[in-house]
Amino acid sequence: MNIVSELLSDIKIKSAIAADRLHFLSKLEVFESIDSTNSYLLRAAKESASGWAVLSETQTAGRGRLDRKWFSPYASNIYCSLWWIFPNMQMDLSALSLAVGVMVVNALKKYGIQADLQLKWPNDVLFSGRKLAGILLESVKCENRIGVVIGIGLNLFLPREDQSVSPDWIDLYEITSQPIQRNLLAGILLDELLDKLFLFQTKGAAVFLEQWRRYDFLFGKKIMVQQPQGNFIGIAQGVREDGALCVLDENNVMRFLQYGEVSIKI
Ligand code: BTN
Repeated sequence: MNIVSELLSDIKIKSAIAADRLHFLSKLEVFESIDSTNSYLLRAAKESASGWAVLSETQTAGRGRLDRKWFSPYASNIYCSLWWIFPNMQMDLSALSLAVGVMVVNALKKYGIQADLQLKWPNDVLFSGRKLAGILLESVKCENRIGVVIGIGLNLFLPREDQSVSPDWIDLYEITSQPIQRNLLAGILLDELLDKLFLFQTKGAAVFLEQWRRYDFLFGKKIMVQQPQGNFIGIAQGVREDGALCVLDENNVMRFLQYGEVSIKI
């Protein structure tokens, strides 16, 4: 038993989505258990309409960035993926992952979380330096359009007794001391994604980057950048228009990091 005992319900989730947004939702599926909501959509959605959302009570092979596992205990958190098609092949999606981070923060605020949330490049949602949510984007090129699976893992209640729970993680229960209404929060999250992905698609990344900069956790901090071609130390200087992280290295050279095989340590 845990603090978040409300099970997921597609009807309750849908009821939290605004009526004029529901037409962007082509399908909503809720599973009891699945390997990974992202893997499922990557297998199943390629030929399907945009706006297919999948949630699961647990994931047996939940995946994070950089081939990490995503801890997915039953009926505790939110594991959600959304299939979205960008009809314009030429569209620059390099800042999409940052924009999705902003959408997650906005959804949490709409739910009523007043805590001071921050974003760690590219898109970890943090509170007090600890990770509250992670985002995994995986794209698929199909004919003349780009399909993206947007996966979000949001910690609502991490089992206190479980040894695999890292002290670097945090859940909403610890932040609010309130039980979390999972269906309401999942609905608000989807509502925000359906609305703002459409905005991103039509207007681009600029408005999201402006917001992202307000939450920039790394800004001005000394960081260690770990990437396949080697590590280096520098000072984080914010994000560029394409979403790249700007880092001034020890030789006073500005380096630009793209979303990918990059890990940042403070
Ligand atoms: C990260 O911070 O490393 C990204 C974590 C993304 C986890 C979510 S949970 C729902 C979706 N399904 C997965 O297997 N991963 C994403």
